[in-house]
Amino acid sequence: MSAPARGSIRRRLMLQLLGGAAVLAVVLFLIVQSLARNLAQESQDNILAAAASAMLDTVAMQEGELQVDLPYAAFSMLSSLQGERVFYAIHAPSGLVTGYDDLAPLAGAGTRFATGVHRGEPMRMITATRRLALEQGALPVTVTLAQTRDGQSRIFEQIIAMAATLGTGLFLCVAVLAGLAARTSIGPILRLTQSVDRRGPQDLRPVTAPVPAEMAPLVGAINTFMDRLKVSLQRSEEFIAEAAHHVRTPLATVRTQAEITLRRVEKEENRASVREMIRAIDESSRAAGQLLDHAMVTFRTDHLEPEEIDLGQLAEETVERLRPMAELRDIDLAVVAPVPARIEGDRILVQSALRNVLDNAIKYSQPESDVTLTLDHDGAMARLQVRDRGIGFPEGGAAPLTGRFERGTNVEGVVGSGLGLTIAEEVVRAHGGHLLAGNNEEGPGACVTLCFPAL
Ligand SMILES: Nc1ncnc2c1ncn2[C@@H]1O[C@H](COP(=O)(O)OP(=O)(O)OP(=O)(O)O)[C@@H](O)[C@H]1O
Ligand SMILES: [Mg+2]
Repeated sequence: MSAPARGSIRRRLMLQLLGGAAVLAVVLFLIVQSLARNLAQESQDNILAAAASAMLDTVAMQEGELQVDLPYAAFSMLSSLQGERVFYAIHAPSGLVTGYDDLAPLAGAGTRFATGVHRGEPMRMITATRRLALEQGALPVTVTLAQTRDGQSRIFEQIIAMAATLGTGLFLCVAVLAGLAARTSIGPILRLTQSVDRRGPQDLRPVTAPVPAEMAPLVGAINTFMDRLKVSLQRSEEFIAEAAHHVRTPLATVRTQAEITLRRVEKEENRASVREMIRAIDESSRAAGQLLDHAMVTFRTDHLEPEEIDLGQLAEETVERLRPMAELRDIDLAVVAPVPARIEGDRILVQSALRNVLDNAIKYSQPESDVTLTLDHDGAMARLQVRDRGIGFPEGGAAPLTGRFERGTNVEGVVGSGLGLTIAEEVVRAHGGHLLAGNNEEGPGACVTLCFPAL
């Protein structure tokens, strides 16, 4: 079950990085814009100041009249900037000496600049003063220059366009990097999720794969939780095992007593009751035994310590142990092992799985029939196949009967607890194999196969 999700780390990270990048891009744009404006103005002012001073240098008093020899260099300097237009006026205290009479000097003292409108166009203006030293005293002469700003604005616009492209480029680069950063920072979380997800239900080993420092507390918490879960599972398995043991021992005593009683009782209806009692005791005892077996299987699959197993030898040993039980029903138990097969696994678990399948084959067969255990392998898988000539699986097949405590409708008074196939399946699964169960295609009876990855 997936937990309810609120928000997304990836989205939050992306939004934060993109927000930061957008602010950065805008700040960068504004800085470049103000720098460009200042630089453009400064360079225009420098040129205007140089031109004004060059013009003032040519002002002289000749024969009582102010003479100006307009320097060509000053004008070429001023119009060199992308064909700007220039207006000038030279004033003496007596009035305009030369130049445009609609260009008034700027108010103030020293060299002063202003941005204003002249003849309907935005212009940058300068007024500079020079004091001509004459016999009768100093004569202040001012030169006023006004220069259009078209070229400046064009350069300024180009710089702004460049800054905008730069800002957008920076934002796009950061967007790509943010995507990558978000993906890499989420990566370890996804890997951890997958590694925990891939595990089998019994796998409660701690997570040992290295994780980033920020995730260490989370992994620590998961490991502690798994540890606690493992301990509590182990406790309940031990409890089941102990309980089963405690139940079986007195049950064995009760059964012996019941059998003794049966021999003594003569009245048929009393005998039937005692027989019923013995059957109930057998059911309980079997259930306790199977519960014990199942707890053992669960415990051992948790702590699987695989060893190399010769399946042929294991099959022989298991069949020999069950032979007395088969003989009680005159069932012939045969092992057919034409090829040797080896697997890696837990011997006790594999034996337990095979014992349960053989036990079923014997239990659900008519007396005097035969059960064959065939061992074969095809390179990848080694198979232990148990075939009987009994009643076969009921309608609905074997699949639902591998569930815990599931018994078929075909059991007809046969003692059992419904755990045999569960045990067998859990064992093969723990070994990376699978269980196949069904009825014989030719003739009556069932065929159950335990498949293990072969060595
Ligand atoms: N060889 C077989 N032939 C016919 N039916 C079978 C065979 N093996 C299993 N079954 C059916 O599958 C059911 C489940 O088998 P399983 O071994 O899990 O339980 P069980 O034999 O009833 O009890 P126990 O836990 O004592 O083995 C059985 O109750 C039976 O109906
Ligand atoms: Mg069984």
